[in-house]
Amino acid sequence: MRFALNGSLIFIVSLFLFQSSNGSELISKNCKEASNRDPRIMYDFCVACLEEASSKLHPPPTNLEDLLGILITISKNNATNVLSIISELSKDKSLDKFALLTLQECSGLYDQGVFYLDNVAGNLKSKVFNNVDMDLSGIRTFSLVCNEDLSSKWRGGISPLSKEYQIFDQLLGISYVFLKIITKT
Ligand SMILES: *[C@@H]1O[C@H](CO)[C@@H](O)[C@H](O)[C@H]1NC(C)=O
Repeated sequence: MRFALNGSLIFIVSLFLFQSSNGSELISKNCKEASNRDPRIMYDFCVACLEEASSKLHPPPTNLEDLLGILITISKNNATNVLSIISELSKDKSLDKFALLTLQECSGLYDQGVFYLDNVAGNLKSKVFNNVDMDLSGIRTFSLVCNEDLSSKWRGGISPLSKEYQIFDQLLGISYVFLKIITKT
C-alpha cells in the first residue's frame, strides 16, 4: 500500500515536471534552430521574450505554431507602442520640418505594419501560410525604411527609434524563420 502510494506520487510529480519543462524546451529548441539558420537572430533575446510571454498564457504553447502566434502578438504590441512613441516625439516644437515629415511617414509605415500583422494573425489562425512570408518581409521593409529615413533627417544622424527598430526587426526575423520551419521551406 505504502509503496503503491509512493509510486503513484512519483508518477504524478514526474508528469508535472515533464509538462512544466515542456514549454521552455519547445522555446529553447526552436530559438536554437532559428539562430542556427539566421546568425542575426539572438538566441537569448528569442528565449527571453517567448518565455516571458508564455508564462502569462494558460494553456502554455505546445507547438511551433503557438510560438509564432505569440511573436506576432508581441510584434503588434510593439508596433502599436512605436506609434505612440512617434506621436510623443512629434510634439517636440523644436523639430525641423523634415524631421517632422519623416515622423509622419513613419507613423504611416508602422500603421501599415499593424494592418499587415493583423492579416498575418488571421492567416495563422486559419492555417493559411501562403503570403505570410511576403507580409512579414513587407513589414520588415516598412520599419527599415522608417529607420533609415529618420536617421538621415534626425539631428546627429541617429534615428530616435533605432532601439525600437532593432527589437521589432528581431521579432519579425524570428517569426520569419519559425514560419520557414513550419512550412518546411
Ligand atoms: C517590444 O517587445 C519586446 C519583447 O517583448 C520588449 O522587450 C520591448 O520593450 C517592446 N518594445 C516596445 C516599444 O513595445
